[in-house]
Amino acid sequence: MKMVNFTLHHHFAFLFLLAAPMVAFAASTPDDFLQCLSIHSGNTSAISKLVYTPINSSYYSVLDITIQNLRFLTPSAPKPNYIVTPLDVSHVQASIICSRQCGLQMRTRSGGHDYEGLSYLSEVPFVILEMANLQAISVEAEDKTAWVQSGATIGELYYRIAEKSKTLGFPAGLCPTVGVGGHFSGGGYGTLLRKYGLAADNVIDAQLVDAQGRLLDRESMGEDLFWAIRGGGGGSFCVVVSWKVKLVPVPSTVTVFKILRTLEQNATKLVHQWQLVANKLPDDIFITLMLQSYNSSLNGTMTMQATFHTLYLGGADSLLEVTSSRFPELNVTRQDCNEMSWIESVLNFAGFSGEPLEVLLNRSSNTKIFFKNKSDYVKEPIPESGLEGMWERFFEEDQGVPMMIWDPYGGKMAEISESAIPFPHRAGVLYMIQHTTGWTTGGNLVAPKHVSWIRSFYRYMAQYVSKSPREAYINYRDLDIGMNNVIGDTSYKQASVWGKKYFKNNFDRLVQVKTAIDPDNFFWHEQSIPPFSSLKKRKNSRVSMYSSQ
Ligand SMILES: Cc1cc2nc3c(=O)[nH]c(=O)nc-3n(C[C@H](O)[C@H](O)[C@H](O)COP(=O)(O)OP(=O)(O)OC[C@H]3O[C@@H](n4cnc5c(N)ncnc54)[C@H](O)[C@@H]3O)c2cc1C
Ligand SMILES: *[C@@H]1O[C@H](CO)[C@@H](O)[C@H](O)[C@H]1NC(C)=O
Ligand SMILES: *[C@@H]1O[C@H](CO)[C@@H](O)[C@H](O)[C@H]1NC(C)=O
Ligand SMILES: *[C@@H]1O[C@H](CO)[C@@H](O)[C@H](O)[C@H]1NC(C)=O
Ligand SMILES: *[C@@H]1O[C@H](CO)[C@@H](O)[C@H](O)[C@H]1NC(C)=O
Ligand SMILES: *[C@@H]1O[C@H](CO)[C@@H](O)[C@H](O)[C@H]1NC(C)=O
Ligand SMILES: *[C@@H]1O[C@H](CO)[C@@H](O)[C@H](O)[C@H]1NC(C)=O
Ligand SMILES: *[C@@H]1O[C@H](CO)[C@@H](O)[C@H](O)[C@H]1NC(C)=O
Ligand SMILES: *[C@@H]1O[C@H](CO)[C@@H](O)[C@H](O)[C@H]1NC(C)=O
Repeated sequence: MKMVNFTLHHHFAFLFLLAAPMVAFAASTPDDFLQCLSIHSGNTSAISKLVYTPINSSYYSVLDITIQNLRFLTPSAPKPNYIVTPLDVSHVQASIICSRQCGLQMRTRSGGHDYEGLSYLSEVPFVILEMANLQAISVEAEDKTAWVQSGATIGELYYRIAEKSKTLGFPAGLCPTVGVGGHFSGGGYGTLLRKYGLAADNVIDAQLVDAQGRLLDRESMGEDLFWAIRGGGGGSFCVVVSWKVKLVPVPSTVTVFKILRTLEQNATKLVHQWQLVANKLPDDIFITLMLQSYNSSLNGTMTMQATFHTLYLGGADSLLEVTSSRFPELNVTRQDCNEMSWIESVLNFAGFSGEPLEVLLNRSSNTKIFFKNKSDYVKEPIPESGLEGMWERFFEEDQGVPMMIWDPYGGKMAEISESAIPFPHRAGVLYMIQHTTGWTTGGNLVAPKHVSWIRSFYRYMAQYVSKSPREAYINYRDLDIGMNNVIGDTSYKQASVWGKKYFKNNFDRLVQVKTAIDPDNFFWHEQSIPPFSSLKKRKNSRVSMYSSQ
């Protein structure tokens, strides 16, 4: 195995060193994989046009196009031996069967937004199954349902729904370029979370291909696997090809406001009060809170800015009744409120203003940066002294451009049971925090200091957030909280450390489902659900699996 020149963050380097002496891979010539694909897809000339290797001039553009985190967009990051871009299910089936047969690991990529790059990075020879061409969406407005393929983006889904109806929507994320495949697999939330729950809560059927290459739907996969794919995290069980979702009613007029307050404008008191109020308001109102530090141009000293960005499912007059009675301290006025359609609110929350709706179809519309993000769940309000401690840390040097996004729970989120789907963060959660630091200059040279800043911030936060386990959101993937130890070798005990943070007690059921559907652990990544059998097969499981082919 070739030693690659590794400058990724330390986990990958660490893993690689551990794995290298233990795992031997069956030699496979390029032709083996291509030949296998053409046998299994039945049309050699058709499939070869869908496979990229480094000799194809567009290999790098296809690889790089959806990579979101610039930390992983470097020449020294590991590159796939093949990128397969299926046009139909038979190509997905062939890719799985042939990756297996040739001893290649497979990574499935839909929108490429994984925070740690797990959909396109691997330590061992690998194939990327690039789902971007499987992007069909069919909306049945009368039925209030839609089928959407994994390679579509959520922006495309919103656009196609709005094309058919002004009073239907879907409760998924804010950033339109996020891929359906990974997003629905891990939950998926946005402005409709308090009213309708997560994207995964609204999935009613799916089509997937399992590790044996079988095409299954809800009826043939059974309720356990159907449960697992709705929030158990991508890349562990199968490749989900498409999802049937339940659309949700939205009023023809919604209202949006965005109110900014600095420390000088009592931000600390407002943030404290938000913690008491935002999760108890009627479920028609979603006030997300963004916290940033900046150097005040007034006198050149640092301050905090709190942004209260709100979606209300109704008109401005009734919104003002709610805010003036329930959150008067925020002083929301009529001038702050903008009435619009739901789809316009989607653009507003994605950071657009005045662009045509078609911007939702632009797969490269968001700005890519270098970042490290982490998540927390808060169950008790943080005292003002705790908030002040956060601000101090935001004023330190070396932090990059830090930001926190606080998303209120309650409403529908508190009504759904913890075990309804694998996503367990329900009643009792006041809000979720996303900790982020991002930067655009200095590249990976400055990554260590910014990453170390956010890790230390996360340590400071421990006293104020959920404990035993310290809960985390799977779609905000964070390898700091733990990972499978060695390529292809996963022990339950080790995995349960991060597994319980993401899934609480649902982790055990996920392990059971994994054991039933993929006992050989074909679908593997640094935070994939392990099968029980990998306990017995430790050390040589993958070697024997590959060399027996
Ligand atoms: C800029 C940005 C904004 C975001 N905004 C939100 C938000 O508002 N709300 C929210 O909830 N999350 C948000 N996220 C997080 C996002 O939900 C997750 O990163 C999600 O996993 C991305 O899905 P993807 O298909 O784009 O990612 P990918 O990187 O393609 O995939 C993520 C994981 O899922 C696996 N996977 C992908 N496709 C499939 C498939 N078809 N079948 C099985 N496994 C698959 C991959 O192998 C990988 O393990 C955001 C992320 C970014 C970078
Ligand atoms: C094979 O694929 C090529 C290219 O897409 C197509 O032109 C041809 O008709 C296909 N042949 C068969 C037998 O399907
Ligand atoms: C990549 O190059 C090979 C060899 O020239 C060719 O057969 C294949 O069709 C190319 N792939 C794509 C996607 O163009
Ligand atoms: C900076 O200016 C703001 C706004 O006028 C003021 O409230 C704050 O006290 C000033 N800070 C310092 C250190 O002077
Ligand atoms: C901040 O709070 C103080 C005391 O509660 C109040 O007097 C003052 O008007 C507030 N300032 C702003 C800008 O709201
Ligand atoms: C804020 O900006 C002023 C003027 O540009 C600068 O002198 C000062 O050092 C900055 N403060 C910090 C903490 O960056
Ligand atoms: C509320 O906002 C209005 C308009 O911005 C402003 O005139 C008024 O002083 C504010 N009231 C308080 C109590 O801050
Ligand atoms: C898509 O967005 C990018 C980034 O904002 C922009 O450069 C590009 O022109 C847009 N493409 C289209 C077709 O609008
Ligand atoms: C992760 O953090 C970066 C940097 O702050 C930010 O740009 C990005 O939007 C964050 N992800 C989400 C989903 O907010």
